[in-house]
Amino acid sequence: MGSMSRSEELIQELERSDYVVIGTPMHNFTVPSALKAWIDHVVRVRRTFDSTKEGYVGRLRDRPVFVAVSSGGRYSGERARQPDFLTPYLRAILGVIGLNDLTVFSIEGTAFGRDAVVEARIKTDQALEEYFRHLPVRPHCSGDVFP
Ligand SMILES: Cc1cc2nc3c(=O)[nH]c(=O)nc-3n(C[C@H](O)[C@H](O)[C@H](O)COP(=O)(O)O)c2cc1C
Repeated sequence: MGSMSRSEELIQELERSDYVVIGTPMHNFTVPSALKAWIDHVVRVRRTFDSTKEGYVGRLRDRPVFVAVSSGGRYSGERARQPDFLTPYLRAILGVIGLNDLTVFSIEGTAFGRDAVVEARIKTDQALEEYFRHLPVRPHCSGDVFP
């Protein structure tokens, strides 16, 4: 398949979505190359964004994007020992195509053993619970609340 038709296919999948879920590890402080390849297919000038004098203008309808990040070490909070080029990059690049509503959940410190992972999962489960408890009605649907 040509790379243009692959790009078109991935963009149309994005356009059909009510929301987007990205599950990704951190690789070398940023997105892994497979996720970067997807980004390079869906961020396309005159298709998903325009370049204007005022800057980039996204063409996609905004919709919720949920990002789940796993990382061997920690990149947020007081115990962070490495930079985070992943979440600011995703916010910046998805913003270019019009996706500005990002919510990030993370499991950090997977390399620090079982107890660290259990601790991280408990925190993330609480964050998920907290987030979805307060979630308003589902975008583009009426009445019901998800999950
Ligand atoms: C090529 C490669 C690069 C990685 N770079 C980082 C990194 O920069 N920072 C980090 O915290 N973990 C890094 N890791 C560890 C992964 O983020 C960690 O193992 C994560 O838990 C993988 O996700 P998974 O458990 O869902 O497979 C790297 C792993 C690989 C294979």
